[in-house]
Formats: sequence, structure tokens, C-alpha cells
Amino acid sequence: MTQTRTPMVAGNWKMHKTVAEAQILAREICRGLPVPLTVDVVVAPPYTALTAVAREIQGSPLALAAQDVFWESQGAFTGAISPMMLTDAGCRLVIIGHSERRQYFGETDDSVNKKIKAALQAGLTPIVCIGETLAQREAQETLTIIASQLNNGLLGLGPAEVGRLVMAYEPVWAIGTGRTATPAQAQEVHHFIRHWLRDQVGSTVAEGLRILYGGSVTPENIRDLMDAPDIDGALVGGASLQAASFLKIVALGA
Ligand code: 13P
Repeated sequence: MTQTRTPMVAGNWKMHKTVAEAQILAREICRGLPVPLTVDVVVAPPYTALTAVAREIQGSPLALAAQDVFWESQGAFTGAISPMMLTDAGCRLVIIGHSERRQYFGETDDSVNKKIKAALQAGLTPIVCIGETLAQREAQETLTIIASQLNNGLLGLGPAEVGRLVMAYEPVWAIGTGRTATPAQAQEVHHFIRHWLRDQVGSTVAEGLRILYGGSVTPENIRDLMDAPDIDGALVGGASLQAASFLKIVALGA
């Protein structure tokens, strides 16, 4: 992590927590945030808990994110949620292109691209997820895959738009497996992403943009990951479901 970028720790609650459970977790996180807070802290509950969590965190530095969004603003799209519905529910950010969306729900770089543009239009900060599968890593295709996800996912975005993104590198083989990327493995890809961004939109934007790491982040490994120069925070799954472990990651991620 380089000092010029404010670290970010985001908890992706995935398909966990009822409304009541989400309220309790959000309350516990708010109460336990370090003072002063030198990290941007974000929680991404399921859609059903967004408004309740928004109320719970009102007046706190905790920011609310959704886990996905659709690109259309309204219409006959059964089951979909628009960017404006998310801002209306109190969201400031939205996770886009998570590998679980790609794997189970047919998300593609093209849909990611549309969602990013729609989210930006609505004033949301997209947290854009990219990452390779184990088979792709073993075939030495990691950087090719990352480049293609960047080329297609960020297609048509200018420097000002890219500057409003948060990127998240989440190797699929590290998600929920307990098999964290080593700081060196993550740093290699984070550096590659920043270099790609520098080529596309210039060094000012590239140096200012945060690149989070996600995949089995815990209080035990966050410090070493954050020591890598291009890792600017974490997107946390399992360890974000309990206030104690999430707050430890927040404290150590500063
Ligand atoms: P885990 O921290 O459970 O591996 O999940 C990471 C993730 O997918 C966050 O978006």
C-alpha cells in the first residue's frame, strides 16, 4: 500500500444474513470502528437488508454497497435492481463482476461494462472484480485473462470515469477456499493492473485508484498483503460475517 491512497476494506456478505441479523452485524461494526478511522470501510449486505442497514449506519463512517446491479434504469426486467434503486436505498457503491456472478449467473465482461457505465451514471462507485480461475493460473494465463477482463470490462471509459472506480483482484481459486494468494502473487497482478491503467488513462488516475485484494482474507494475513505496494485494501467474504474478525481486518488494514 502506498500512503497516497486511502485504504479500503469492504465486506461482501454474499447470500448471508436476514434483515435482523444484518442490522445487528452493521451495528456491531459501527460501534467497533477505530477512532480515528484511516480506512474507508464498506459493507455489502444482500438487497433485502440494504434499507435496514442504511438506517443502522446513518451518521457513521460506514458506507453501504450492493452486490450487483442491472444497467437499465427501469422497465420490465423481473428480478433486477436499477442503479437508481440502489442510491435510493442508501448505497454509495456497488460490487460489479464478482466471479460468483460470472460463474453462476452468466455475467460477462460485456455485462460488466454496461453495469459499470450505468452505475457511474447514477453516481455510484463501482467495485469492479476481476480474477483468474485455477485452471487459467496453472496454464500460465493469469495476466492474459486479467488484461482481457480489463480491456473488455472497462471498454469506452475515459480517465475521469476510470478514476471513479475501485478495482478488486479476486483470484477465483482463493475465494472461500482458505487458500489466499501470497502477497507476491497478488502484488504481481495488482502491479500489472496498475500498469495497464497507466497505459490506458495515464499515471495520475492509475496512481490514485485503489486496487483491493479478495480471496480468503483474514486478520492473520491482511497485514502481509497490505505491505505489498499495489495492494490498497481488501474485499472480504467469510471473515466479514462476524464483526470481530471484520473489525480486526479493518484495524490491521490501516
Ligand atoms: P472469501 O473472503 O470468503 O474468500 O470471499 C472473498 C470474496 O469473494 C469477496 O468478494
